[in-house]
Amino acid sequence: MATEAIERAKQHFADLIERQLSRVEEMKQQQDWTDYGKLKPIIIGIIGGDGIGPYIAEEARRILEFLLNDELKSGKVEFRTIEGLTIENRAKHNKAIPDDVLAEIKKCHVTLKGPTTTPRKGDPWPNVESANVAMRKELDLFANVRPVRVPSQGIDWVFFRENTEGAYALGSDGLDVTPDLAMDFTVATSQGAERIIRVAFEHAKKNGINKVTLVTKANVVKTTDGKFLKIGQDIAKEYPGIECDDWYIDIMTAKLVDEKRRTQFKVMALPNLYGDILTDEAAEFQGGVGTAGSANIGKQYAMFEAIHGSAPRMVTENRAQYADPSSLIRAGAFLLSHIGFPEKGKALEMALDICGQYEKRLVMTGRSNGATSKEFGDYLMEKLEAPELEKKWKAFQKA
Ligand code: IPM
Ligand code: MG
Repeated sequence: MATEAIERAKQHFADLIERQLSRVEEMKQQQDWTDYGKLKPIIIGIIGGDGIGPYIAEEARRILEFLLNDELKSGKVEFRTIEGLTIENRAKHNKAIPDDVLAEIKKCHVTLKGPTTTPRKGDPWPNVESANVAMRKELDLFANVRPVRVPSQGIDWVFFRENTEGAYALGSDGLDVTPDLAMDFTVATSQGAERIIRVAFEHAKKNGINKVTLVTKANVVKTTDGKFLKIGQDIAKEYPGIECDDWYIDIMTAKLVDEKRRTQFKVMALPNLYGDILTDEAAEFQGGVGTAGSANIGKQYAMFEAIHGSAPRMVTENRAQYADPSSLIRAGAFLLSHIGFPEKGKALEMALDICGQYEKRLVMTGRSNGATSKEFGDYLMEKLEAPELEKKWKAFQKA
């Protein structure tokens, strides 16, 4: 029995290694970054997802169409709705992303994606891989960029979470070796670590930020985190104007709640799972995961999403129209900046800050005693059209 189990495990492990080695080869061949300036049209896919997803995605699309009105008319951008990335359809095909849906997604240059249900052991759904994780892998969206800002507290962070490796690379490919022994795997590659850390340093350099923090647990997870840290320290040498420090994830998690210390952090680069956890904690200071947006960026494709879940109960309780669309709309702001409209992206972020954090004329409660997504969308558009948006935003920040 044991010998058989070991043989099976060896074969499984051999398959995993083979796949990861071919991924390394693919990374070595990687092409240049997409130049959106040269594309006409830039195709923007809107993926509703599950639960409240289609409701908030509809609102996000309305805002983007409003801001890209001229570009829509001139044919510079085109919107497409991608159907079928729902848990029902994924369960039907027993696949994280059904093939025809993936093909449609790949026809878009960028996508804005609502939350998707992630099944786990014991759920009524087949235990397929998370659609987010699958999309990140399929489209090689290696950089998960998550900014968190709370100006009144001096918090201005950008997390660069590695998005295709670490504990997630083989998260759905672990092995029950015997009924008593379960094993998962974590992966780090030189190419994978280098590209995410480089993006973090380049962001710092471009934005005049003088510090990048590497977060690992390299004292314990010596091989993979050790590689990530070592590569980070090597890359840092190429950026003499930028200080590079490193922290372990446990103490880093603690320091984010230390009011005196946390303002020293600026740009953070970290492996997948630590990035997942730390960015939820970080978003909490800004008002919770419902307020944060997330960019998943690769050289060829990019996907922008909310970082909260699909809240299926809001749909069964008939209150999906009260869902807060801010997180997905913020992701839409990142999308605008990414495809070459940074002023529009910035304006949308300012409007979101004013409506959601400062002025708060409408309150989203998720219930009928609060505003609807559509009312919030109208409120945003009113701010976007009002004169002196930036002046107001700056005044609010000082207050
Ligand atoms: C996130 C989410 C996903 C992740 C889940 C839904 C698979 O928590 O985007 O942070 O773990 O990456
Ligand atoms: Mg998460």
